[in-house]
Amino acid sequence: MKILVTGGAGYIGSHVVKHLGERGDDIVIIDNLSTGHKELVLYGKLIKEDLANTEAIDCLIKRYKPDAVMHFAAFIRVEESVKNPIKYYSNNTANTIKLLEVLINRGIEYFIFSSTAAVYGIPENIPVSEDTPLNPINPYGRSKVLVEEVLKDCGLAYGSFNYISLRYFNVAGADERARIGQKYPEATHLITRALKAAKGEIKNFQIYGTDYDTPDGTCIRDYIHVDDLADAHLKALDYLIKDKKSDVFNCGYGHGYSVKEVVNMVRKVTGIDFEAKEAGRRAGDPPALVADNTKIKNILNWKPMCDDLEYIIKTAWEWEKKL
Ligand code: UFG
Repeated sequence: MKILVTGGAGYIGSHVVKHLGERGDDIVIIDNLSTGHKELVLYGKLIKEDLANTEAIDCLIKRYKPDAVMHFAAFIRVEESVKNPIKYYSNNTANTIKLLEVLINRGIEYFIFSSTAAVYGIPENIPVSEDTPLNPINPYGRSKVLVEEVLKDCGLAYGSFNYISLRYFNVAGADERARIGQKYPEATHLITRALKAAKGEIKNFQIYGTDYDTPDGTCIRDYIHVDDLADAHLKALDYLIKDKKSDVFNCGYGHGYSVKEVVNMVRKVTGIDFEAKEAGRRAGDPPALVADNTKIKNILNWKPMCDDLEYIIKTAWEWEKKL
């Protein structure tokens, strides 16, 4: 199959490209390399292009005639989205709509979209199932909800257009051979920041909030290994092509770890007893975010292979040491 992957030089996109490449799919990657890196692309043809350039994107779709498109290209920093919402609505939402227009006009039938658990905001019930009302609390989450709404309408309006939105929980870890992994100019994610604190790169590592209504007072998240997430994408794609049913799935393991548990595991894996200062809450953090993954397991037959926090952190550490 010929798959076009936007954002395929980024952290999650590059892992999906690896999985597609390993099974022999023909891959074309569009990435503007604003946060992606060409050395993360292990398979396929990388084309440096911006999604805002609709004419160029249209030419590429016309030229390569992909069977399906997987769309990762997006900004992902919650705090930044609060400070600069236009950046998020214009790239994550407007550019996705422009992309969809091109794809639908060119008759592309299969579309996989990177959504996020941030669409749920602060959910009332844990674990969170897909039918929980969407109530994002920041522009990042809203920029993704808007696209989910557009996709729903497109699925209804254009008979041959089918999509799957995958709502990612906390993606972490790296390639088991440490060939690819997370590489952002400024780390914001917990595991990456803790590893950088272990390396001595981050001096003032903090635990944001110790007074939440959780067993140890720190926030709980559902950490999913990036290879399991990549596998979910391939399963979603195969299902979409076979069954032609648009749908939405949570991607998480269905259980969580607290910030303190993660920090302690980073200490264990690295063997470095770095300092973690207890600090105030970070704005907009839900106390707990854990996926109900019944649907993806039942419908896509997704079977997690790396559901082990120690393994997740070990792979991230092996990668981090190479940076
Ligand atoms: N945290 C710290 N110290 C740090 C960094 C994070 O205590 O230095 C805490 C946060 O306050 C939070 C937890 O660790 O309680 C996880 O924070 P991350 O920034 O790693 O991840 P988030 O849960 O905030 O968000 C991530 C993605 C979002 C996605 C969400 C879904 O960044 O895009 O997971 O669960 F929507």
